[in-house]
Amino acid sequence: MRNDITSLKDIQFLVDKFYELVQKDPFLGPIFNVRLAGRWDMHHRKLYRFWHTVLLRRPDYFGDPVPMHFDMNIDQRHFDHWLVIWIETIDANFEGVIAERAKFRGKTMAKAFLAKINKAAGKV
Ligand code: HEM
Repeated sequence: MRNDITSLKDIQFLVDKFYELVQKDPFLGPIFNVRLAGRWDMHHRKLYRFWHTVLLRRPDYFGDPVPMHFDMNIDQRHFDHWLVIWIETIDANFEGVIAERAKFRGKTMAKAFLAKINKAAGKV
């Protein structure tokens, strides 16, 4: 039986599983691996705080993560694929209200990130 996401421990598990898949993914893996070589631990710690804030409403993450993505040369295809892996990871491990929120927030944030990236690049 799958349980809902209810604690920081669950968030850490979800983030670890997600980036395990991302790192191995032929399309997205290289983007992350090049940029985060030797810095994955720091990235994981930030993402624990980010999702803890978003999903369990603990104010743990501050700042705007979007500008970091401006120079990554990523577009709709990357965000669509990011979302597929995110949803698969959640569905494989969790179910419940917060798990649904995690999928919904992944979807809305991927859309918002892409819109800001395109705007910054003068594409819209
Ligand atoms: C295909 C899409 C994406 C790619 C390739 C990507 C890649 C990356 C990389 C390489 C970093 C590390 C930057 C650095 O430390 O130098 C990063 C940071 C981050 N990303 Fe993404 N990302 C993507 C989508 C998303 C989405 C949709 C979200 C939110 C739902 C997100 C949230 C974050 C956050 C919170 C950070 C940490 C920012 C900070 O340092 O405070 N990313 N991303």
